Amino acid sequence: MPNVSVVGLQWGDEGKGKVVDYLAGDFDAVARFSGGSNAGHTVVIGQRKHTFHLLPSGVLKGKELLIGAGVAVDPVVLKEELSLLPDEVRHRLTVDSRCGLVTPQDKELDGALEDSRGASRIGTTKRGIGPSYALRALRLSPRVSDIAADYDFAPLSSFYGSLSVDPAGLTAWAVESRELLKGLTGDVGARVEGVCQGGGSVLFEGSQGTLLDLLHGSYPYVTSTHTVAGYIPAGLGIPPSLAGKPLGVAKAYTTRVGGGPFPTELTGPLADRLRSLGSEYGATTGRPRRVGWLDLVALKYAIWINGVSELAISKIDVLSQAKEFKACVAYKQDGSEVSDLQSALGNLGQVEPVYDAPFSLDGASYSHGLPPPGRRLVDYLEDQLKTHVKLVSYGEERSMTIEL
Ligand code: IMP
Ligand code: MG
Repeated sequence: MPNVSVVGLQWGDEGKGKVVDYLAGDFDAVARFSGGSNAGHTVVIGQRKHTFHLLPSGVLKGKELLIGAGVAVDPVVLKEELSLLPDEVRHRLTVDSRCGLVTPQDKELDGALEDSRGASRIGTTKRGIGPSYALRALRLSPRVSDIAADYDFAPLSSFYGSLSVDPAGLTAWAVESRELLKGLTGDVGARVEGVCQGGGSVLFEGSQGTLLDLLHGSYPYVTSTHTVAGYIPAGLGIPPSLAGKPLGVAKAYTTRVGGGPFPTELTGPLADRLRSLGSEYGATTGRPRRVGWLDLVALKYAIWINGVSELAISKIDVLSQAKEFKACVAYKQDGSEVSDLQSALGNLGQVEPVYDAPFSLDGASYSHGLPPPGRRLVDYLEDQLKTHVKLVSYGEERSMTIEL
């Protein structure tokens, strides 16, 4: 079995957690390579819903769990997450010693920076992710390995102080974090290499979505790190040859949490209906998600930049009750039509979507396999996107998945 990565092709919340849990059985380890506790990956088994923010979604399949150097680790969240799970989970977990940490002050700063932006606020998750990555770039952020010994917090404290953020409590936080991380840290890159050399394989779990990538998304309305498959080797410390084959996950419509351009956004009763049918509320913040039709222009870009060769389409069931289905095939920009995201990315707030309404999926039921309307959607997407659809998800529960 070759290594595989699961990456989000929209603005996050595509259903990566469910897909990772579904696929994890075939792998020896599941590894996170970017993001932090801003992520909310949901896995539903029977009546029980689990939401993971830092732990890889392979946790419920008994797999080895790896948190790579590219992840911003909030020890408070990790502790809480581990406390809800059996003790044995700790023994399967390795956190890379090079991971940057999220301090309580980073969370305070995240909120303060948002407030200072006024109407142009990004709508961050306030999990301290932006400040943590920014401090890493400034070489002020303590890493997991740094707090294993006595760490000189003077430069960081003075930086926080200059922004009127009280640095008090950093040392106590470090001592508590050191306690939690004791015995959990290691070299994740070497672990991935070891699994592969032993004939095993690793599933890489992306977080957020392609359009939230710091460099390649809808800047400045993005997260503070990289979400694209190109970051897998750097975020884990492995050679690109081990990064595996990317499987892209996309919802059958589009959602976005927070601010920023969203060409296919819907408002009014139809938006309310889609939001309620799809239970579109943030897994991390509980915020109502903005909803809209499927955007094939954005999806083509995401498929290209991630090198995706197979797709998982989620929440197809929501379209069975939505009465209609539309897909955006081009954007109108300055009187002309463009069908590639690259030429519109700097102007995404101004473009008008051009829609195709090829068929309705009304009333389709998926419990006995893919019905004719679902087949039509799969054929349509494969034709438009030139990419094979491997998985169709028609509900939250683990078993509500059709493999094609
Ligand atoms: P941050 O990552 O908390 O700094 O937030 C930056 C932007 O990314 C905001 O619009 C967030 O709503 C969005 N975002 C961050 N993480 C996720 C996620 O896991 N799912 C969906 N949106 C996210
Ligand atoms: Mg999510």
